[in-house]
Amino acid sequence: MNDQINIALPKGRLGERVYAVLSEAGYGSADAEVNSRKLVFDGGEVRYFWVKPSDVPIYVERGAADLGVCGSDILLEQDPDVYELSDLHTGVCRIAVAAKKGFRDDPGRVLRVATKFENTARRYYAGIGRQVDIIKLNGSIELAPILGLSDVIVDIVETGTTLRENGLEVVEKIADVSARLIANKSSYKFKTGKIKAVQASLSAVTER
Ligand code: PRP
Repeated sequence: MNDQINIALPKGRLGERVYAVLSEAGYGSADAEVNSRKLVFDGGEVRYFWVKPSDVPIYVERGAADLGVCGSDILLEQDPDVYELSDLHTGVCRIAVAAKKGFRDDPGRVLRVATKFENTARRYYAGIGRQVDIIKLNGSIELAPILGLSDVIVDIVETGTTLRENGLEVVEKIADVSARLIANKSSYKFKTGKIKAVQASLSAVTER
């Protein structure tokens, strides 16, 4: 049996940061060229794949990857059947409701909410008993209230720059977000030792 550990990394800043951490922990790959277009690279004991961040859970849930790294925002949204092994304390941001500066909610009207995070937004508003019309977008969510497509947005806020530069502000925080290490359930059972070793090395780096 091939007991190499397959790790799905999210393409982009978070994945690059996490790869740097793994590499520092001794799991680097001579093949790694973060900026190349190559999607798979070998590190001996481990093999990495670059995937679209929101696809990380599906690779792990279905066993194409043993381990994966993704933001807790994606786990909250998709609720995949995986083990969440650790908080990597990086990629820290929040998922929040935002609106144009000075926006006042009119409880007599259905609130129009633009977001990529449909399930998270639906659950949040169901929890506070607010009737909403969810408008699913795939990016540039901040445009929606500016153009009158929605009243508010539910989106990721990291530095707050995107909101500020577009005349928007946070109305309410929904959840704190950070990167998580996740594992396929059967991989965890059959490759426990190696997975725990990767997990421990990662913790040693992220928690010091
Ligand atoms: C996220 C989010 C905001 C931005 C917030 O987008 O959707 O647009 O980051 O960051 P800030 O508070 O530091 O300005 P991301 O870059 O992940 O790309 P996306 O548009 O594909 O979601």
